[in-house]
Amino acid sequence: MASRREGRGHLVVFEGPEGAGKSTQLVALSARLSAAGYDTLFTREPGGTPAGEAIRRVVLDPTLRVDPLPEFLLYSAARAQHVADVIAPALAAGRDVVCDRFTAASVAYQGYGRGLDLGFVAELNARVTGGLEADLTVLLDIDPVAGLARASGRAAHDRLEAAGLAFHRRVRSGFIAQAEADGGRRWVRIDADAAETAVTEAVWRAVSPLLAPGEVGR
Ligand SMILES: Nc1ncnc2c1ncn2[C@@H]1O[C@H](COP(=O)(O)OP(=O)(O)O)[C@@H](O)[C@H]1O
Ligand SMILES: [Mg+2]
Repeated sequence: MASRREGRGHLVVFEGPEGAGKSTQLVALSARLSAAGYDTLFTREPGGTPAGEAIRRVVLDPTLRVDPLPEFLLYSAARAQHVADVIAPALAAGRDVVCDRFTAASVAYQGYGRGLDLGFVAELNARVTGGLEADLTVLLDIDPVAGLARASGRAAHDRLEAAGLAFHRRVRSGFIAQAEADGGRRWVRIDADAAETAVTEAVWRAVSPLLAPGEVGR
């Protein structure tokens, strides 16, 4: 199959606190892109590969106690496999990739949230991705109280949701700090406390200009 564009595809990442609406918005975006003939690859972290999904079951199992450093190493192990097996090959073939969480989540959760050294988090992030960075990170921003209230409607509670409000406030501040440090070049912050359809429209405005429609090169 011919690639859709000459250069590498674009990597778009969705981030935000628990219950911000990432999964909801990714379903809506995926449906809209498929209907319009886009060949965008949707994937998620931790996971995205068989090994990554196995690691996901460990890191999100509330019955297992995992300290901050090994937790970060588990996420990083899943990410390294995901980049090598899925994300990098797709981008190299000219395909756009949309990923539910990526390196910024480790900065926010393991760095700001769990207190790991931010320089170390950044260094390991760069190692496991081979320096690959998102072309656009969509921050679905919401107060953790509102986000957790939404998320608590779910059947399963993972460790992150049980970890307490203070932790989730640090995580949110970690996402906002990254967006502000970027200065609006490769991050867009969307108010995720708005109605679902309003968020969907804001996501579309931010993301669609970056994605290549259809199978141009075929
Ligand atoms: N804009 C919204 N307004 C109200 N509820 C929402 C909105 N977006 C998502 N939800 C609901 O909030 C819950 C968490 O959404 P989800 O997409 O799973 O969040 P995330 O993947 O970011 O943790 C779900 O029950 C979903 O239906
Ligand atoms: Mg989700």
